[in-house]
Amino acid sequence: MAPRVVVLISGTGSNLQALIDAIAAGSLKAEIPLVISNRSKVFGLERAEKAGIPTKVLALKPYTTAGKSRIQYDADLAQLIVAAKPDLVVLAGFMHILSPTFLDQFPTTPLINLHPALPGQFDGARAIERAFEAYQKGEIKHTGVMVHRVIQEVDGGEPLLVEQVEIKPEDDLAALQDRIHSVEHVLLVRGAALVLEQEAAKKCNSTSA
Ligand code: GRF
Repeated sequence: MAPRVVVLISGTGSNLQALIDAIAAGSLKAEIPLVISNRSKVFGLERAEKAGIPTKVLALKPYTTAGKSRIQYDADLAQLIVAAKPDLVVLAGFMHILSPTFLDQFPTTPLINLHPALPGQFDGARAIERAFEAYQKGEIKHTGVMVHRVIQEVDGGEPLLVEQVEIKPEDDLAALQDRIHSVEHVLLVRGAALVLEQEAAKKCNSTSA
């Protein structure tokens, strides 16, 4: 049975599409049993539906409106994911800061995140814009993309794959965004494959021990 990858999104889902395409092409040996978005009506949900993948929308707003806590949201989100029995959880442009309540539900299941910057640079939102501004000020010469393990600290977990991305003097923000997204689409698939291989090796070692 192919390993199960649950994907969390918030937006256009081009990185989700990269995973879907890699699975369809046979280069990523996995299946996606569920895509969860914290925003309704985003294009990523359409991409999932088109690929025949079940989707769920779980937004924070109804919780806060009803006076429920963020912790409750995180607990419900974790429950949705756990019910899908994932071997790997991929945060693909998922714009929500996860609490320990969430992370505690995954003591053994790996979680990875994609971030459009190099480790330790431009953590958090608007990373590409901030890198572009820093380049204009002469503070950096290049930027990058990383796939890293998810910990409580935003974009702070152990980097699994890191790739430098060139910034050209003639770039406008859109050109840099396009270059970064092309790198992301490759790196996320490689990151997912790497972690699934590591997990398979662990299982193999524990059964042969
Ligand atoms: C990506 O750049 C990701 O790194 C960022 O949000 C963007 C999501 O893009 N944090 P998409 O929804 O996968 O197209």
